[in-house]
Amino acid sequence: MARCFINTVPVTVFLFELLSLLALRGAWAAAAAKQQQLKCAASSFASILQPAGAVLEKIASVPEGGSYGEGAAADVAYPTNPTNLPALCALTVRVASSKTTSYRFGLFLPTTAGRWEGKFLAVGNGGFAGGINWLDMAPGPHYGMATISTDLGHNSTVADLSWALRSPGKKTDWGWRALHGSIVLGKQLTEAFYGGRKISYSYYNGCSTGGRQGLRELQAFPDSFDGALVGAAAWWTTHLNDYVTRLGMYNLPVASPGHISTSDMGNLADEVVRQCDAADGVSDGIVSSPELCTFDFSRMLCGDQNPGVDGAACLNAQQIQTAQHAYADYHSSVDGRFLYPGLTLSSEDQWFILLGGTEPSPFGVGYQRYFLFDNPDWDWHDYNDSIVDFAERTDPGQATAAEFDIHEYKDRGGKIIMYHGLADGLVPTKGSEYYYNQTITTFGGLEKTTDFFRLFLIPGMQHCWGTPVDAPWNIAGAFQPGSMSTSEWSVPGYKDSKHDALMALMDWVEKGSPVDEIVATTWKSSMDPTSGVLRQRPLCPWPAKAVYNGKGDVNVSSSWSCLKTTTGTGANSWAGGGGGGLGNKHKLI
Ligand SMILES: *[C@@H]1O[C@H](CO)[C@@H](O)[C@H](O)[C@H]1NC(C)=O
Ligand SMILES: *[C@@H]1O[C@H](CO)[C@@H](O)[C@H](O)[C@H]1NC(C)=O
Ligand SMILES: *[C@@H]1O[C@H](CO)[C@@H](O)[C@H](O)[C@H]1NC(C)=O
Ligand SMILES: *[C@@H]1O[C@H](CO)[C@@H](O)[C@H](O)[C@H]1NC(C)=O
Repeated sequence: MARCFINTVPVTVFLFELLSLLALRGAWAAAAAKQQQLKCAASSFASILQPAGAVLEKIASVPEGGSYGEGAAADVAYPTNPTNLPALCALTVRVASSKTTSYRFGLFLPTTAGRWEGKFLAVGNGGFAGGINWLDMAPGPHYGMATISTDLGHNSTVADLSWALRSPGKKTDWGWRALHGSIVLGKQLTEAFYGGRKISYSYYNGCSTGGRQGLRELQAFPDSFDGALVGAAAWWTTHLNDYVTRLGMYNLPVASPGHISTSDMGNLADEVVRQCDAADGVSDGIVSSPELCTFDFSRMLCGDQNPGVDGAACLNAQQIQTAQHAYADYHSSVDGRFLYPGLTLSSEDQWFILLGGTEPSPFGVGYQRYFLFDNPDWDWHDYNDSIVDFAERTDPGQATAAEFDIHEYKDRGGKIIMYHGLADGLVPTKGSEYYYNQTITTFGGLEKTTDFFRLFLIPGMQHCWGTPVDAPWNIAGAFQPGSMSTSEWSVPGYKDSKHDALMALMDWVEKGSPVDEIVATTWKSSMDPTSGVLRQRPLCPWPAKAVYNGKGDVNVSSSWSCLKTTTGTGANSWAGGGGGGLGNKHKLI
């Protein structure tokens, strides 16, 4: 017994050593495998790319704090490379989409151990730009997400549509095919890179055309995302790009007495603040409830019969008519049918983009020439309202994202945060409201919609980012970090789900906490976080609004609450005036 005991000692030790050795070898093998999995090399992706007929154009290891992109010479659409990136593996992949067309996409894969959170993010583009949006991809890896952007199958700046001429394939790539294909392949490459670990959540972040792309994708492919952050969506392609030509024509020719110049637009913007600012209850230079303002144009009318008017800032009767056309909804002169909502009061500072040229904007005329008629010589003077019907029938590239019955997306748990600046002069704010209204009607009521889809209007914010009136605007939406610097992500100084709409969306998707408010931020110099915070204010799910509590600093978000009136449902039932006391209002959520 004693002998046996003694004899077992070395055996046990031996066994122990053997087991340790095996365990160690196991750990080495696992570590080696992990190294293998995170190998930023073509071999890691070949088994996915080859069967897909896709080509790896470029692969690079970017060190922590590094920079990546194609630079201004190669990427005319997105010439600015992001800096201060987390360590990542950067891929550029080319995919054939038809016999004559192909698109590319970029993929960022975080490489620091434990950095990948099992999440996937697709980001959108802008206008008709063709190029990989590297700058907007940059925040993704900071959140721990594998991130893609596609070049949409062509190479051009934002307002150049000539690439689409007689190329149905390129139009389709722009319309939906390039993004969808990039998402499908991008997800496979991501899972392969991380050793077969499945993606647990997928997201989207895009504004303008990017907003359209996100809606288009989730309408046609409800499985693509778990959450979509959709800004200032140019979703109604067939109508919007025709409206843009009609709108431009109202202000032409430049020599006509009704023409309004950029400085006239500035004067109009100032008068709108004077007349409409207080309608929301707080005089702070921000028009937060433009729909409550009945703008009196006669107070700007030049002439002796209007003695109080500033002669240098007035408009003549024809100019006033031009402005009224810009605010008015676009109805067909053929049958009176509603075609597109007009621009919102407080958007005037950005009107120069669509109304400032010697011909209507290329976003409109380019669409008719290169998308609709495949005729570069088409003359915009020939524009007529039946063109919208033609566009609707043909919808080149099937780009339009006008599906409101998105129950498949909702049923599988998908969430949407939509937002739009109320001072947007490029894509009318009311277009988002219209989309939301149609969705509410389709789902049979606001409550059946707010449980998966919420709309946030951002007072004083222009198209996708920025403000001319020191309004809080930044919520980490698409283009927002990149509009400030090459190295920023999220909301500088406020990287949390109270201030960052993408993080709020993640909380909604992953933790089931609905987004009841998002606090927007602006800085003393509105695009420069180092200048210090100027104002923060909550944004509320439409139709709720941020209402001043009646006490406290108006520039601090805690002085505001998201409120809804107790009576009525229409936008006009909002109680606006007074000292902003709680009165007959109650908390919406
Ligand atoms: C895009 O076109 C520009 C010329 O306009 C060219 O310099 C650049 O290399 C092209 N980029 C790609 C990715 O083909
Ligand atoms: C409207 O414009 C289209 C395209 O220029 C043209 O073919 C059509 O004849 C026009 N219709 C009317 C009613 O003028
Ligand atoms: C809030 O910010 C505005 C804009 O800078 C400023 O004019 C105003 O004085 C500020 N209000 C307070 C209470 O600090
Ligand atoms: C959306 O619906 C609300 C409430 O019915 C209405 O007041 C508003 O005018 C509608 N907006 C648009 C753009 O259709």
